[in-house]
Amino acid sequence: MKAMVITKYGGPEVFTEVEFPDPHPGPGQISIKVSHSSVGLVDAFFRRGMIPMLQPPFVTGLEVAGTVQELGEGVTDFRVGEPVVTLSLMSLGGYATVTLADAALTVSLDGLNVDPAQAVAALPNAVTAYLALTHIAYIREGESVLIHGAIGGLASAFPAVARLLGASRIVGTVRTSTKLEAARELAYDDVFVADKFPTAVGDERFNVVVDPVGGEILTSSFEVMAPFGRALLVGNASEQVATISNNMLWNKNLGVLGFSIGPYLQANPSFGRPAAQAVLGILAEGKLDLPLTILPLTDVAEAHRRMDAKEVIGRIVLRP
Ligand SMILES: NC(=O)c1ccc[n+]([C@@H]2O[C@H](COP(=O)([O-])OP(=O)(O)OC[C@H]3O[C@@H](n4cnc5c(N)ncnc54)[C@H](OP(=O)(O)O)[C@@H]3O)[C@@H](O)[C@H]2O)c1
Repeated sequence: MKAMVITKYGGPEVFTEVEFPDPHPGPGQISIKVSHSSVGLVDAFFRRGMIPMLQPPFVTGLEVAGTVQELGEGVTDFRVGEPVVTLSLMSLGGYATVTLADAALTVSLDGLNVDPAQAVAALPNAVTAYLALTHIAYIREGESVLIHGAIGGLASAFPAVARLLGASRIVGTVRTSTKLEAARELAYDDVFVADKFPTAVGDERFNVVVDPVGGEILTSSFEVMAPFGRALLVGNASEQVATISNNMLWNKNLGVLGFSIGPYLQANPSFGRPAAQAVLGILAEGKLDLPLTILPLTDVAEAHRRMDAKEVIGRIVLRP
């Protein structure tokens, strides 16, 4: 197998192509012949050493699609050759031609007429959105949702999932006007540029705010939350710190909640597949489709350069 290894913390140039023997799955695992591997901002954070639990050399990549290559002991619910997509690969290793995954956190695409590139780009994030909105934010039918970084990899899964869960109105913000058009193709009722926020929303108030961005836009979001509203913090793409007024929280009965899919599924592995089942229908209907840039696995440095330059609209998917 071939893997793109991060040899030291740094810029996109730190990836090196390395050949390894194919890994064999342990109990409860499968090995996957990778056809597509998605690139997320968290991979750039790993590469820069912002999450120092990982020491180089390591292979990042949290989500892959492909076919089952080998079954580990005790795995009976897959067959060799079956098309699959992973949820979150806690052991990483997705930037490779073969990777290992927990069978319990892998979903079959058998019989579904879905493009594996769209599946790997959207399904893991749709599962994140589903679990975060239902198990953490307790969204109710008829509620309104505001989603920041609206066309980002993670955020772009939220509008269709919120719609599936009965949200009555869904509004997004994007950092620059260059991303408005693409965001408007998703299930938003309205999309604003972030520098017009919060004035652009006028008197409108939101029951749930989904925030993968952090910093100033999160700080301003508390002004546009309805009483009993919940801010769902799912990332920090801006790398800025938000200021949260404790007085505003208790005066308006607001909640601030955090959600991270990897540790959540590690603690609750049985929650992944039912969530995937709930969103597979909208995946198959194309409602989770987002703009994709497909690059060869060996062009991972170029993929990361585009991430760092904030040139990506939707997601980059690597193809071995
Ligand atoms: N909670 C979880 O389980 C989970 C799962 C996956 C990812 N994440 C986290 O979620 C965050 C986003 O990851 P991603 O892979 O979706 O990244 P992404 O594809 O780069 O999306 C980030 C989005 O946020 C926008 N943005 C960045 N800075 C902004 C600012 N200052 N104001 C307004 N918008 C801004 C970006 O717009 P520009 O491109 O124009 O800057 C982009 O649309 C990261 O912190 C990641 O670690 C969390």
